[in-house]
Amino acid sequence: QTGYITIDSGYKNTGATKSAITFLDGEEGILRYRGYPIEQLAEQSSFLEVAYLLIYGTLPTQAELDEFSNQITKHTLVHEDVRKIFDGFPSAAHPMAILSSLICALTAFYPESVSPDLSKENIDLNVIRLMAKLPTIAAWTYKNNMGHPLNYPRNDLDYAANFLYMMFSFPTEKYEINPVVVRAINKLLILHADHEQNCSTSTVRLVGSANASLYGSVSAGINALWGPLHGGANQEVVEMLEAIQRDGGDTSKFIAKAKDKNDPFRLMGFGHRVYKNFDPRAKIIKKAADEVLTALGISDPLLKIAQELEQAALTDPYFVERKLYPNVDFYSGIIYKAIGIPTEMFTVMFALGRLPGWIAQWKEMRENKEPIGRPRQVYTGELDRDYTPIEQR
Ligand code: SDX
Repeated sequence: QTGYITIDSGYKNTGATKSAITFLDGEEGILRYRGYPIEQLAEQSSFLEVAYLLIYGTLPTQAELDEFSNQITKHTLVHEDVRKIFDGFPSAAHPMAILSSLICALTAFYPESVSPDLSKENIDLNVIRLMAKLPTIAAWTYKNNMGHPLNYPRNDLDYAANFLYMMFSFPTEKYEINPVVVRAINKLLILHADHEQNCSTSTVRLVGSANASLYGSVSAGINALWGPLHGGANQEVVEMLEAIQRDGGDTSKFIAKAKDKNDPFRLMGFGHRVYKNFDPRAKIIKKAADEVLTALGISDPLLKIAQELEQAALTDPYFVERKLYPNVDFYSGIIYKAIGIPTEMFTVMFALGRLPGWIAQWKEMRENKEPIGRPRQVYTGELDRDYTPIEQR
């Protein structure tokens, strides 16, 4: 009976919840975290400060930020038995597979993480542990991929510097932290920190609505983010730009492919379910790409190809009619590449940034005691029929 059920596949016109965390205006291209414009936070804040803002709802005082940051620093080490699980992965394993597995595995090491206790102390402990250990595990996935020795975190470094140290240092030589790169990492993580009810955040909320653990819910969110239509797009964009470069740099050929309904190829990094105008994050990242490459003295031909592709698409009726603009994933890979982060790690960087958003949304859903998510359907299968013994089939 479908009298009372309306199907809205992809939830294009369905509001799943009420939330006070992030505001998007798709027509105007506006993004605000707890009311603060993304443009101001990207330029003036730090990732941990934005994480605190998203999770606790206010900009922290210096004392609150110091306590949050010090607590995270104290929990960056990962249980040695997690390393044993880690050592079982083949070096060619995709980092997102390792990340989602190990984040879920943390529930086996920390009973507080699966406790129904929603006291501030227990929630804060789970938040701190997850914020602290994800970067360590993320850096390990890179070292595993490269066949390099894993690095332990250093408590004398701040969040972004520590992540870079764990990613790129070797026991055999001194590692210099580049402030330009630290600033770029902070800005990129801020820009990815939350985005209201996107696919991976909706996944975290749905899994969490069953009173599942924060770690298990985030592990599910990591898998949703890995999808090439979602966070996985940042890896696809650079691979697309490299394919255009190998093909001689003719962007018009790829624009034609993207418009051809018989060709599954899409212009990765373009289009958005909500933004029908420029993704404000893409504007900031595009400017940052120029700044970072100039500061590092790098000229990447992919940046020029990306700019040409953007210009071509923004004037082509197919894209204009459908209001397809560059999204957050279109330029981010250019910066990751300039920093030395390989394409397989791009979506891990997205997950690192999105973690506080997932945490804030899971926490809000639980604090609001939202019911378990259980949508209905319109049944289109066989009607009532009798079982037939196998010899009669
Ligand atoms: C992220 O939701 C979020 O907030 C996500 C995110 C976040 O911060 O969490 O912003 C992060 O996931 C950004 C999006 C990254 N994905 C990509 O860049 C992959 C390429 N883009 C698309 O596949 C697509 O645009 C989506 C998935 C982003 C949005 O898909 P929708 O809203 O379901 O739109 P659609 O697929 O129905 O497209 C509408 C029309 C279609 O053409 P018609 O059937 O009307 O003729 O636009 C076309 C599509 O074929 N189209 C594209 C296109 N994107 C849409 N055609 C060519 N290239 C594209 N990139």
